[in-house]
Amino acid sequence: MIDWRHLCRGLVLLALNGSTISKPSTGIQFPFFISSPPPLTPQAIATAENILAPHLSGDGAYVVYEVKPKYRVGDHPVSALWIAETGLARSARRLTSGDYDDHSAIFHPNGSTLFFLSDRHESGAAQQIYRLDPFGHSQDAFAITSISNKKPVQSFSMSPDGRYIAFVSADETPAVNEETLAGKHDSKVWNGQVDLGRLRILETANLQNGIRTLVSCDRHVDSVSWSPDSKSIIYRMKYNANLESNAFPTSEEIVSISSTVSPRTIINHSRNPQSPSIWVDEDIIYHLRSTTLDVLASSPSVWSLNISTKVPPHRVYLGDSEDAGGLVNVGVAGQVAVEVVTGVDTRIDILDRTGKLFTLYQTIDDGILAQEWDVKLLPDGTYVFVAFKSSAVAGEPVELWSGRVSGQMTVQLSQKLSHHNAKLQAFHLPKAQPVFWTSKDGVDLAGVIAYPANQPFKNLPTVVIPHGGPYHRDALDLQFSCQGWRTFLASHGYLVLSPNYRGSSGRGNEFARTSHGGVGRLDWLDTQGMLEEAIARGIADPNRLAIAGWSQGGFLTAWGVTRPNSTFKAGIVGAGPTDWGSMALQSDLPDFQADLGGNAPWSGTKPQYMTGSPIHFVKNVEAPLLIVHGEADVRVPVTQAIGFMRGIIRETEGSDRSRLVIFPREGHGFVERAHAEDLLEMVLEHIDQALN
Ligand SMILES: *[C@@H]1O[C@H](CO)[C@@H](O)[C@H](O)[C@H]1NC(C)=O
Ligand SMILES: *[C@@H]1O[C@H](CO)[C@@H](O)[C@H](O)[C@H]1NC(C)=O
Ligand SMILES: *[C@@H]1O[C@H](CO)[C@@H](O)[C@H](O)[C@H]1NC(C)=O
Ligand SMILES: *[C@@H]1O[C@H](CO)[C@@H](O)[C@H](O)[C@H]1NC(C)=O
Repeated sequence: MIDWRHLCRGLVLLALNGSTISKPSTGIQFPFFISSPPPLTPQAIATAENILAPHLSGDGAYVVYEVKPKYRVGDHPVSALWIAETGLARSARRLTSGDYDDHSAIFHPNGSTLFFLSDRHESGAAQQIYRLDPFGHSQDAFAITSISNKKPVQSFSMSPDGRYIAFVSADETPAVNEETLAGKHDSKVWNGQVDLGRLRILETANLQNGIRTLVSCDRHVDSVSWSPDSKSIIYRMKYNANLESNAFPTSEEIVSISSTVSPRTIINHSRNPQSPSIWVDEDIIYHLRSTTLDVLASSPSVWSLNISTKVPPHRVYLGDSEDAGGLVNVGVAGQVAVEVVTGVDTRIDILDRTGKLFTLYQTIDDGILAQEWDVKLLPDGTYVFVAFKSSAVAGEPVELWSGRVSGQMTVQLSQKLSHHNAKLQAFHLPKAQPVFWTSKDGVDLAGVIAYPANQPFKNLPTVVIPHGGPYHRDALDLQFSCQGWRTFLASHGYLVLSPNYRGSSGRGNEFARTSHGGVGRLDWLDTQGMLEEAIARGIADPNRLAIAGWSQGGFLTAWGVTRPNSTFKAGIVGAGPTDWGSMALQSDLPDFQADLGGNAPWSGTKPQYMTGSPIHFVKNVEAPLLIVHGEADVRVPVTQAIGFMRGIIRETEGSDRSRLVIFPREGHGFVERAHAEDLLEMVLEHIDQALN
């Protein structure tokens, strides 16, 4: 087996324990710039496109995917379907207008029909399943579930033989009478069992036979997959559709589509696994679940289960030093493709029931969008692979790429099929590279740095941007958004340091678990450690330092600026938790937040959640802070920001140098274009003022 780490890491800037500073060997120096391209503008980022959800046709010849504005202008999401020939560069073409939200398209196995979800009947209305023949005479789409339904189709899945579509939707409820509505008698039971998903099927070639409901009971149907013989369906039963119910027991059940035999429970899970089960063989299913069973937030690994036995599932792959990011059924021969999250890299490995067969794909100084790839194994032994690839190292924006390989070998993504983001190349795209160092307590760590290509690589004004999560990572894809500032700020002349601190993905379960119940300890040591390393090597100016981040990165920022005598000249806390006790009470993921913070107020024991809560140390804030938050955020409610600002006003001097800006209608991830632009402008202005 090839050790990729040695092949692709020739360009390490900060050697693990090295002490020399060298200019990055990838960086071509241009001493006589005549005209440097302008830095990335907020407008360029706010008007960029997201590309996602690629699905190959059964013969691997075509791929369908979605293109949607990164930030929208109207009231409702919109998305267009695109199609490309996998064997032909630049073959991507638009299939649908993008006036509605067309998404989640898949091919019928005969390759000539697409099924997808859309609100084409009325923008913003309940999405239904549509059908479109992309190569037919009429390219009109038509609905195959009722467009008068008020309840959306939540998800759908086609049987391998193409005869059936299974889908989940709630029952229609009788119209509420006008009088009741007018009187506003509209109280609700909290966390009630409303809109429970029902499992239904229809016949793709005989729509007139109507829709049959296979499973309808007092719980919610989730995560539907077909058996390889198209005769049965496996699904989960949860208490209700809320995310909160994933922390409670679920059961894995099987129903036959023909018989009247009632569904059979094959296993009870103490918590919902982290991916749907996929059924690749007669009696073997795979899914991703926590490497440490029964622990809520633990890195995912691959588990398998023999459904003919009562033997509990067992871990078959990953979790020790690498994590699983996703699973895809390759279509034949009992094989499954696994996304392997490893350091700053990603691999796609192919497994069968005997274990790992081979590595199909490996990133090298680039990155692919997580869980947004597809692979098909053709009868002649060819693997066709498609992914959205970009490179922060080479300054290449994300596009759809394809590759194919005969036999069990590593594939190259050799065909660039799309050109959605070419306009970004008119701007100054910064350099980036992975860096490695050793923490004070002796752990090998990695991170990514980004920096302007048109300035000397030393003593740069520096912004530390710890990622969110904490179970997430910085990799070598070229990323930018209104909440991810690495590329944006580096384009504007800053050195950006992105540490994969303890708690991050890509290093196995023990590494991931470290920050749980220990926020503000080793995660902070590692964030600070990367900064110290960059100062020691002369690339970061110790007198011009700032820290900024979103979500868990917002927490680490709030933590950093509340350390006594911190040297940061500015901080940007984006949707950051500041009080773990109230996070457990208010977030839509209460059990996760309690696990992260240490415990929850309801535990009745000593409040460990205070130990890692920045609000407790707010009196130490000296740096001017920009605190930004979406008013409708349910993951990290806006009260986390308001409470922190209240503390700053009451407990610190110079509080007039900090401000809290709240964006109406926005949740944890922003969606409105004007907000995206405004936020990026504020971020740049705040950093420029403090560090220039
Ligand atoms: C492909 O399958 C769809 C759905 O069953 C069917 O309507 C269509 O006629 C099929 N096309 C071909 C060329 O077989
Ligand atoms: C799952 O739990 C239910 C309810 O407690 C129980 O009746 C059933 O026997 C269990 N099934 C399995 C396969 O463990
Ligand atoms: C699953 O269990 C059944 C019953 O014990 C057994 O016959 C079958 O070989 C097992 N399948 C695999 C892949 O081990
Ligand atoms: C912070 O600075 C003050 C004043 O110089 C000093 O008295 C104090 O010990 C410092 N605190 C820490 C934790 O270094």
